Amino acid sequence: MKPAILIRSVTANDLRTIFEIENQSFGNEAFNKRQFKYLAKSPTSHFVVAEIENQIGGYLILTTRRNSKLLRIYSLATNPNFRGMGIGEKLMNYTKDFAAKQLFDTISLEVKESNSAAITLYQKMGFVSTGKKMDYYGQGQHALVMQLACKV
Ligand SMILES: CC(C)(COP(=O)(O)OP(=O)(O)OC[C@H]1O[C@@H](n2cnc3c(N)ncnc32)[C@H](O)[C@@H]1OP(=O)(O)O)[C@@H](O)C(=O)NCCC(=O)NCCS
Repeated sequence: MKPAILIRSVTANDLRTIFEIENQSFGNEAFNKRQFKYLAKSPTSHFVVAEIENQIGGYLILTTRRNSKLLRIYSLATNPNFRGMGIGEKLMNYTKDFAAKQLFDTISLEVKESNSAAITLYQKMGFVSTGKKMDYYGQGQHALVMQLACKV
C-alpha cells in the first residue's frame, strides 16, 4: 500500500528541513533561510508542506497579487528520499483545488527549460508552455513559462 501524503500549513519548525530539501534540489540557486522565513509569514503567499511517513516529503509556495486572478507557483520541491512517490503530483492537485476555490483563473510558473522532471510533471497536470524568459536563471539558462487555465 502506498504511504499516505498529508498536506498542511508550514510551521516554523519545518523550515530547517525545508531548507535542506531546497539546497539538495536547487544547489547554488536555492532560496536562503531568510527568504523562507519571510515567505512563511507573508500574507501574499500560501506555504504548505507534504508529510509522508511523519517526515517532510516536499513543500509548495504559492504567491498572489492583489486584484490579480493569476496564482503563481513560486516554489515546489520534493525530498529526494521520497521522489517518484506521487508527492509532486499531490502538491500540484492541491494547487489546482486551491485555485478553483479561490476563483483564480490562471496558474502560472517558471521552470528551467532543462528541468525535464518538473516539465513532465507540469505537462501531466495539464500545463502548457506559454512563453520563454531568456537568461532568467543566469546567462544561457532560460525559463519556460507554463500556465494552466482554471475551470470555473
Ligand atoms: C519535479 C519534482 C517536484 C517531482 O516530484 P515527485 O514527487 O518526484 O513527482 P511525482 O512522484 O508526483 O511524479 C508525478 C509525475 O511527474 C513526472 N516526473 C516526476 N519525476 C520525473 C522524472 N525524474 N523524469 C520524468 N518525469 C518525472 C512524471 O510524469 C510523474 O508521473 P508518473 O509517475 O505517472 O510517470 C521533483 O523531482 C523535485 O523536487 N525536483 C527538484 C526541484 C524542482 O525541480 N522543482 C520544480 C522547480 S520549477
